[in-house]
Amino acid sequence: MHLEVQNKKLNKTMSITKGTPNTDFNWEYAPAPEAKDHAKLKKQYDLFINGEFVKPNSKKYYNTINPSNEEVLAQVAEANEKDVDLAVTAARNAYEKYWKKMPAKERAKYIFRIARVIQERSRELAVIESLNGGKPIRESRDFDIPTAANHFFYYAGWADKLEYAFPNRHPQSLGVAAQIIPWNFPLLMAAWKIAPALATGNTVVLKPAESTPLTALKLAEIIQDCDLPPGVVNIITGFGNTGAAMVKHPNVNKIAFTGSTDVGKIIQKSIAGTTKKITLELGGKAANIVFEDAPINQAVEGIINGIFFNQGHVCCAGSRLFVQEGVAEEVISKLKARMETLIVGDPLDKNTDLGAINSKEQLEKIQSFLKIGVNEGLEMYQSSCSLPKKGFFCKPTLFIGAAQSNRVVQEEIFGPVLTIQTFRTIEEVIEKANNIPYGLSAGVWTDKGSKIFNLTSKLRAGVIWANTYNKFDPTSPFGGYKESGFGREGGLHGLMPYLKF
Ligand code: NAI
Ligand code: MG
Repeated sequence: MHLEVQNKKLNKTMSITKGTPNTDFNWEYAPAPEAKDHAKLKKQYDLFINGEFVKPNSKKYYNTINPSNEEVLAQVAEANEKDVDLAVTAARNAYEKYWKKMPAKERAKYIFRIARVIQERSRELAVIESLNGGKPIRESRDFDIPTAANHFFYYAGWADKLEYAFPNRHPQSLGVAAQIIPWNFPLLMAAWKIAPALATGNTVVLKPAESTPLTALKLAEIIQDCDLPPGVVNIITGFGNTGAAMVKHPNVNKIAFTGSTDVGKIIQKSIAGTTKKITLELGGKAANIVFEDAPINQAVEGIINGIFFNQGHVCCAGSRLFVQEGVAEEVISKLKARMETLIVGDPLDKNTDLGAINSKEQLEKIQSFLKIGVNEGLEMYQSSCSLPKKGFFCKPTLFIGAAQSNRVVQEEIFGPVLTIQTFRTIEEVIEKANNIPYGLSAGVWTDKGSKIFNLTSKLRAGVIWANTYNKFDPTSPFGGYKESGFGREGGLHGLMPYLKF
């Protein structure tokens, strides 16, 4: 049995024999770095409140770095409670004074404008996203930034059609939305949060994650350029305590959070007894299920894309692979061979498949899980690539022969680490896939439509991809079951958490 592997650069095909993890085709790639001179960064960023950049009351700034070489990119303000109060007050005033009263079709024009400017400045945004977040430029250029623009386009379209979206229900805006986002898709998560909030007539205070504030601050500049009425969107930076102050602020009507399950629980507790509406998009541990009748080569590509894409920093990453016994050997050997071709390194290089792990803390967390897996007695396989000396990097890793009880199977690692379990029957795999605290997404690979429909009705996961993985579209709702959170973002469903009826 032979496997064809494409060398992307030379456009040559290599044959490798099944079962032998290949190590002899590490062709040297000439570096192909994206230029970064057009990415204009200031030395220091203030808080974007009421349409202007203002100094923080805390008088504190912190360094934001490039995780691929640990160099400082800029200094960013740290908002304290007073700053949060100023931002929420600005959002409240803007809501009462401008945004609530504005005809919906006028609101839509502003949102369309933001979408267009993101498109115009997409190259700069993609470079900054990769510099600050560590993800490969291919991802930020081809996925993050275009999808962010698409979300603004999509929700701009809904702004004046809410009566059609929810006929006879007279939807009304809520007021001020506090939105807290993580570091894995910085601009895209900002778009997921801001676009539906504005379209439904709410105003916003958004906080990006402490390690990836720069594209959100660029978005603040874009919003300023788009002449949005002051205070409609406020973007403030800081750590967990800044987020906590936003959540607790009495003038906030709606909280939208994406991040860890632990913080999701803290937020839920802290708003208990209030009338604040909330949506939580939390962790995941997706099952990616490969049946014997699956198109194996496509499935291998989907597995690679599902877990190694974006260094595994994806809440819906296909981090638990279930392979039916008859094809397990073939799938694992093809996976190993494909892993050998993955290029780990400079996020700005167009050939790079895996960029940098977002932070030192996250790398340490992943490394501790690698130790846990080995101590649990699992076979660990890593590709033989070399890692850059500086920065935070991790090799793509497999844990073969994993069991349901292993911690590496049960807990979210959020890195390029895939556990592999085998199964015999469909009942068995459904049971195993569901036996986990999370339920955000899943993948299924099979030739049979009937199997797909059987699984989609029985897997407790918000999103299920069939014969593909990690496909996103603004029109389609996204969200979880169980400890993966509640509420939906995207699509018509994504309007609802920002409305009262
Ligand atoms: P985190 O949940 O602490 O951070 C997410 C956001 O919440 C950041 O903006 C942070 O400043 C803010 N935050 C932190 N504490 C807060 C609080 N008490 N109140 C309000 N906001 C608060 O996530 P972290 O520590 O960066 O990552 C830890 C783990 O969480 C990861 O290893 C991964 O397993 C998971 N995670 C899941 C994500 C997802 O997309 N579902 C995204 C990021 C992390
Ligand atoms: Mg945290």
